Amino acid sequence: MIAIIGASLAGDMAAATLRQEGYAGQILLIGDEPEVPYDRPPLSKEALVGDAPENRLYLRAESWYAEQGIELRLGAPVMAINPTAHTLQIGSGEPIKYEKLLITTGARARTLPGMETSPIPAYVVRTLEDARHLRAGLQPGVRVAIIGAGVIGMEVAASAATRGCQVTVVDFADRVMSRILPPDLSAYMAELHTSHGVTLLLDAGSVSLTPTGISTTKRGDLEADLIVIGIGVVPNTELATAAGLAVRDGVIVNEYCQTSDPDIYAAGDVTRYPNPFGPGDIRSENWKHAQNQAVTAARNMLGKHEAYAAVSGMWSDQYDVKLQTVGNIGTGTTTLRGEAKSRKFMLIYQNEAGVVLGALGINQAKDMRFAQGLVEKRASVDSALLADPKQDLRKLGA
Ligand code: NAI
Repeated sequence: MIAIIGASLAGDMAAATLRQEGYAGQILLIGDEPEVPYDRPPLSKEALVGDAPENRLYLRAESWYAEQGIELRLGAPVMAINPTAHTLQIGSGEPIKYEKLLITTGARARTLPGMETSPIPAYVVRTLEDARHLRAGLQPGVRVAIIGAGVIGMEVAASAATRGCQVTVVDFADRVMSRILPPDLSAYMAELHTSHGVTLLLDAGSVSLTPTGISTTKRGDLEADLIVIGIGVVPNTELATAAGLAVRDGVIVNEYCQTSDPDIYAAGDVTRYPNPFGPGDIRSENWKHAQNQAVTAARNMLGKHEAYAAVSGMWSDQYDVKLQTVGNIGTGTTTLRGEAKSRKFMLIYQNEAGVVLGALGINQAKDMRFAQGLVEKRASVDSALLADPKQDLRKLGA
């Protein structure tokens, strides 16, 4: 029996891959949330502004799991893993025996002191339940204070502004989306938001909750009707640590997604893994990584011996902008393809030898697929050709 702890994207993908690869044994997919596995990217976007029913967020129809012979155990927190006995325990139940185990427990949102007891509604955005509460609060004219100008903060800012709220985003960093974007693109996204009426209070010093809103040490106090906290995530490593697995800001896995116990694998946000494109190990927080690493982990659990080497990347939808990245961005030489001030352009990053390291696109979904191909092939391309939008990216680097 293969057990998977964590019924979100990575766990779901792993279960599906096990079946696709011909595994005929029992699969147990365990989640602590009560919901059918769902997709998280829409939680800060469509789930806040659209009218689609919630089941549109489900990764698959509920019936699919039974059809595939995948036992779905929801609302079932795993309390302990015993690697020596090859067992795990759900709630206070009897230990469940596994042959191989996959940990896809993901990450949880960081919170601020006083959030639970705040007289003003204060939310993080990580679960469908969080999004339900937030959606109900985003009424026209409501003063929304968002702490954290990262991806969650800026996506919620766009959704709240679209719903007619008065939005202020506060961060101790001096630019938006600083974990992901180079400074020039932070400035571009900041301008996009201010043009939609969002107020940015950056370089704000330390931020805390007050009974009437929030307080900052450098930019004064702010009254609010609703507070959103998007200040990063913490990997859910507690089970792995208690089981004696190697953990360091993430469950440590090798390139085959195997933890320090040979029968326990891990994938997704929760892992720290060898960087396929550089020295050392990294933890990645993005959808594509969760999906890709889960596929590799599942295949390796069935005896394949494939190193995880997927190119990373992310996307974010804010107003009429689809921002996408692939590979390493913000390093090496930068080539602009298109008009920098427009709503459609691409930045391509290369090393001294002309090898394409990464790309960033604004409303360039099609070309970003071809840019990903160049990164995967580690293609060396003349930057003058990359800069010319009339040149077909598919044909460059062939
Ligand atoms: P983040 O790391 O992108 O941004 C956190 C922001 O909060 C940073 O700007 C940081 O400077 C700021 N911050 C941290 N502590 C603070 C404090 N005490 N006071 C004020 N500011 C503070 O994390 P975020 O936005 O919370 O996203 C959480 C997770 O969700 C990430 O794993 C992210 O990858 C994922 N996500 C991905 C999306 C995408 O790829 N489009 C969309 C939304 C979330």
